[in-house]
Amino acid sequence: MFNDLSSVAAYLKTRRSGKPRDMIAPGPDRAQLDLILQTAMRTPDHGKLFPWRFVEVTDRSAFADLLNKAFCAANPDARPVQIEAAIAPAHMAPTLIILLFAPQESSKIPLCEQEMSVGAVGMNLLHAAHAHGFVGSWITGWASYDPLVRAAICQSEERIAGMFFIGTPALGLEERPRPVPNDIIRQWP
Ligand SMILES: Cc1cc2nc3c(=O)[nH]c(=O)nc-3n(C[C@H](O)[C@H](O)[C@H](O)COP(=O)(O)O)c2cc1C
Repeated sequence: MFNDLSSVAAYLKTRRSGKPRDMIAPGPDRAQLDLILQTAMRTPDHGKLFPWRFVEVTDRSAFADLLNKAFCAANPDARPVQIEAAIAPAHMAPTLIILLFAPQESSKIPLCEQEMSVGAVGMNLLHAAHAHGFVGSWITGWASYDPLVRAAICQSEERIAGMFFIGTPALGLEERPRPVPNDIIRQWP
């Protein structure tokens, strides 16, 4: 069983992302999504900088147009089938949130710590979505690093930390390989 919500410990032990292409309605309603985002913000953050932002993608057709334009600019020889695959995520899952890294360059807090904080927000966003009975997925893909997509979504120094798809899984989730604890845990001295 995945995402077992019978206790916090059971949930954390069984946490599993979904696949955006397999996510169907329902997704979170307005009140649930607000709660999910507020929960995600409750994240370790050295210096109280809040170096992250959320963008809710409300017009999926406009987002598909943006991906289309960006992909074709980067891949002028792309075949229609490749373009279709590249823009398909724009229409996946009922809810799409883009998480931005918003570094505070002037701060004394090292940028690597700010980056870890946005990573923690991403993890928390998945937990919050799962806590409300949905399944989430954190995808970067080509679009997060594309200059046209970044220019359309980000301000100044912001970067895309990930695209978060949230919905209801249409298919059962499957386990993926996990680390062998003894391989990655050691004692010191
Ligand atoms: C920053 C980041 C970017 C990711 N981007 C992708 C991606 O583009 N495509 C993909 O298949 N998985 C991507 N993943 C991995 C999935 O989100 C997911 O963590 C993985 O499939 C393991 O599933 P789990 O969350 O159930 O452990 C990314 C993960 C992270 C942390």
